[in-house]
Amino acid sequence: MHEKQTVVLIDVFSRNKIQLACPTHDLRPRSHIQHDILGKSRRNNISIGVGGLLVMSDGYFFQALEGSRAVVHRTYGRILRDPRHSDSVILGCVEIGKRSFADWSMGYVVVTDAVR
Ligand SMILES: Cc1cc2nc3c(=O)[nH]c(=O)nc-3n(C[C@H](O)[C@H](O)[C@H](O)COP(=O)(O)O)c2cc1C
Repeated sequence: MHEKQTVVLIDVFSRNKIQLACPTHDLRPRSHIQHDILGKSRRNNISIGVGGLLVMSDGYFFQALEGSRAVVHRTYGRILRDPRHSDSVILGCVEIGKRSFADWSMGYVVVTDAVR
């Protein structure tokens, strides 16, 4: 018999270390590197059924990730090892009956001075 998959939502905060952590020859503006992260996230997340939202500012990232429990935790484990951020903490992890980001492989919000 098929066991129903548990869908979870985790909220994560981390410090943005782009440029500090990137090799010195990577002189692209921070926004380009952030778009690389977004592009990879979307491509990977679509293929594994993960959705979410990524908030990026100069100083921090905030991310909501949802999907089946095992896949979300495996994805978070991979993200944790990324040197472009640090001090990652899980702010919350809840089981959800219905996805909030069903149509978003990774939505994003960039926080700039203009919207602060
Ligand atoms: C704040 C932050 C959030 C990220 N979110 C995701 C994500 O949701 N999904 C993902 O696949 N990669 C994400 N990444 C990128 C991963 O750390 C990693 O670079 C990427 O998954 C490697 O993909 P590849 O093996 O296809 O090159 C994120 C990176 C950072 C710094």
